[in-house]
Amino acid sequence: MGVTVIFASTSGIAEAVSEEFLQRDYDILLCARDEQALARQAQDLKVKFNRDVPYMQWDLQPMDAHAEKVRSLFEEYHVDGLFMAAGVMSPQAECNQDPSKVIETMQINLTAVTVILNLFAEQFEQKKTGFISCISSVAGDRGRQSNYVYGASKAGLTAFLQGLRNRLHRHDVLVQTVKPGYVKTKMTEELGESILMAKPKQVAKEIVDAIERKQDILYTPFFWRYIMSTIKWIPEPLFKRLSL
Ligand SMILES: NC(=O)c1ccc[n+]([C@@H]2O[C@H](COP(=O)([O-])OP(=O)(O)OC[C@H]3O[C@@H](n4cnc5c(N)ncnc54)[C@H](OP(=O)(O)O)[C@@H]3O)[C@@H](O)[C@H]2O)c1
Repeated sequence: MGVTVIFASTSGIAEAVSEEFLQRDYDILLCARDEQALARQAQDLKVKFNRDVPYMQWDLQPMDAHAEKVRSLFEEYHVDGLFMAAGVMSPQAECNQDPSKVIETMQINLTAVTVILNLFAEQFEQKKTGFISCISSVAGDRGRQSNYVYGASKAGLTAFLQGLRNRLHRHDVLVQTVKPGYVKTKMTEELGESILMAKPKQVAKEIVDAIERKQDILYTPFFWRYIMSTIKWIPEPLFKRLSL
């Protein structure tokens, strides 16, 4: 078995996913933009799992460095998986006041992430093996006034993953779209407690289980599939009057 790259490994969800992979004896490589946080994470994992985990500093911006980084990564390692967790979520009110927040949301969540996914896709297509599991969001399933900039970035990402899955299926490469509901991480710390708020560990287990089952689309926790199918079903003339 080759190495699974965990991109944005310092994210709350990816930290838990990294531990879930190590518990199942996968070889992983951590990538994130903050080198000190990466070194701390690798050290923690060494203490917990008695494993040396390699890491690589990697920022999503600027984007013109990605092609070279992916090429050298595949030269150095036998990579056979990518778990992508990078994302930003500025409150909608901030996006309404500050165009740079709209630009950042689209650039990180959609442009930069899809540039990297496509570069990994090229490699996996040639090797005719591998998997890409990428976190999108239930927020991409329907635009709501409370977070439609973030939702639009994730809707674009979901559509990209759909197309990529369609392309890579014939090459035996899994492309998995992960759609979490609310998960307790630094991204959601301002939202407070809620019975809908899942723990990263629970979501991480469901994600790795779904990768092993080769599942295309995962709502996590599972009940979000039913919540979102209800939300998607509401007719637009009614939906636009709701405060969601
Ligand atoms: N938490 C939720 O309720 C929820 C629900 C649905 C979907 N999601 C999605 O799940 C994914 C993980 O989020 P999370 O909840 O674990 O939140 P998080 O802890 O805030 O993780 C976000 C990650 O994105 C990284 N990132 C942001 N800008 C970057 C850049 N320019 N270059 C490289 N990395 C960058 C952050 O790096 P730093 O650690 O350096 O900041 C962080 O590791 C995101 O895609 C998010 O949209 C989360």
